[in-house]
Amino acid sequence: MKFFIDTAKVEDIKKANDMGVICGVTTNPSLIAKEGRVFEEVIAEIASIVDGPISGEVKATTTDAEGMIKEGREIAKIHPNMVVKIPMTVEGLKACKQLTAEGIKTNVTLIFTANQALLAARAGATYVSPFLGRLDDISVRGVDLIREIAEIFAVAGDIDTQIIAASVRNPMHVTDCALAGADIATVPYAVIEKMTKHPLTDAGILKFQEDYKAVFGE
Ligand code: E4P
Repeated sequence: MKFFIDTAKVEDIKKANDMGVICGVTTNPSLIAKEGRVFEEVIAEIASIVDGPISGEVKATTTDAEGMIKEGREIAKIHPNMVVKIPMTVEGLKACKQLTAEGIKTNVTLIFTANQALLAARAGATYVSPFLGRLDDISVRGVDLIREIAEIFAVAGDIDTQIIAASVRNPMHVTDCALAGADIATVPYAVIEKMTKHPLTDAGILKFQEDYKAVFGE
């Protein structure tokens, strides 16, 4: 399983990129709004940092296929690595089909059932984004959805669509997604940082330092 970072915060993207662990970025309208910056500017800056797929979503207020296709074409023009993120609706599927036919990469988002993922795949989506954490929030096991989608795609045998586990909230989600067959997990920086930690690692570093200093000094 590969990692994308799920944020529009440039400092966090730089930190994760410097660690060498991410190979892409996902954003959504809430994350862009949180930064309070012009969409095209922040996306172009992100593209100058990470050399990999960058998902930029169509405007939250655009709900018709025609509008999404128009915006999708503009998003694709920002950088060759752009992926157009489209909500999972009938109109979104129509937009996905058209943008795919034009050679534009797509990420169908807000996936909460395996059927939605299968439909998006058949509409030509490059990626589907099932939301793990938001399902857990309503007492539905999000990881089961990832597993189901992975199984269905494998059984179909003719689906190239990649599964991005989204709405990842903690390190256990990451392990669960990897075991369940997600191709990618898109993870906030705070979770990536937590994944690096273990109390025995800290204790081990301290012990090595003490032992070294006891014989060789500072
Ligand atoms: C997916 O691409 C979304 O940006 C994101 O993962 C949503 O996460 P949340 O449910 O924590 O807002």
